[in-house]
Amino acid sequence: ALVSMRELLDHAAAHGYGIPAFNVNNLEQVQAVMSAADEVGAPVILQASAGARKYAGEPFIKHLIQAALEAYPKIPLVMHQDHGQSPDVCQGAINLGFSSVMMDGSLKADGKTIADYDYNVDVTRQVVDMAHATGVTVEGELGCLGSLETMKGDKEDGHGTEATMTLDQLLTDPEQAADFVQRTQLDALAIAIGTSHGAYKFTRKPTGDILAIGRIKEIHRRIPNTHLVMHGSSSVPQDLLAIIRAHGGAMKETYGVPVEEIQEAIKHGVRKINIDTDIRLAMTAAIRQYLFENPDKFDPRDYLKPAREAAKQICRQRYLQFGCEGQG
Ligand code: G3H
Ligand code: 13P
Ligand code: NA
Ligand code: ZN
Repeated sequence: ALVSMRELLDHAAAHGYGIPAFNVNNLEQVQAVMSAADEVGAPVILQASAGARKYAGEPFIKHLIQAALEAYPKIPLVMHQDHGQSPDVCQGAINLGFSSVMMDGSLKADGKTIADYDYNVDVTRQVVDMAHATGVTVEGELGCLGSLETMKGDKEDGHGTEATMTLDQLLTDPEQAADFVQRTQLDALAIAIGTSHGAYKFTRKPTGDILAIGRIKEIHRRIPNTHLVMHGSSSVPQDLLAIIRAHGGAMKETYGVPVEEIQEAIKHGVRKINIDTDIRLAMTAAIRQYLFENPDKFDPRDYLKPAREAAKQICRQRYLQFGCEGQG
């Protein structure tokens, strides 16, 4: 059944677990998330980015998620707009039937310019007013995703900014977070702690100086009743990179967010963990390997089946690792 994000995150907070929010763009990804959740009894957050709506088209995104609800009527499911860049985009998602929206006011509507604090408060508050009127949950973001190694913003696939950032921008300030929550009345807060979107997050296995889990603890201490959200939370498994490289792929050395760091964050208020890249890597590894080993095959179902299965295994692992088993 379609539920609000607020309901799921409140339950996760009360029972001390975190929920992976998986980005979906197509049929196989939706099926992978749903069948993994079904096997382990997990609640589901399916999120669609602007890029996903553009790739699939709005009717397809909407009805893929409707199909998930119909196929799995017992699983509590949130349909979430990821990184809404303006109140208009969020309104559009609400009109489409989304039960949760993210107003990402850390950047201006162009998705590139760093927004000032008052702008962020203003647009987030606007979205809260319209969303709460119909029971839709709102996620906001304070701080800019980006690397503490390069001091640059997150730029992946043409969105985000490459601008040089200050430490103040790259690490969410607990005091400002408290003010932001109080002024916007949002339901969940995405924070910046040194993670970034995509496969290239860290040049080495991250330690506390470049992945600031300690900052999460400070924020949670200041606003214990606010659900925290971690973006850029793919773990970038080395075994998937190895499969990709062994079958014609050319991915450079890179490291993601270790699962044990996310587990620590879940102990300190993180309730929603955004994952897209790990599914992309799993599907690409499976497709590359399948086509390499079966050069005569050409039916998309032949290679999409192992890709869907690989995506499902990633989802299943994260549900178990974040404590979702039996919570759905
Ligand atoms: O925000 C980043 C997510 O991974 C979605 O990526 O905009 O390429 O769909 P996308
Ligand atoms: P990853 O690129 O680490 O999977 O992050 C996804 C994300 O934050 C979507 O909003
Ligand atoms: Na990146
Ligand atoms: Zn994100």
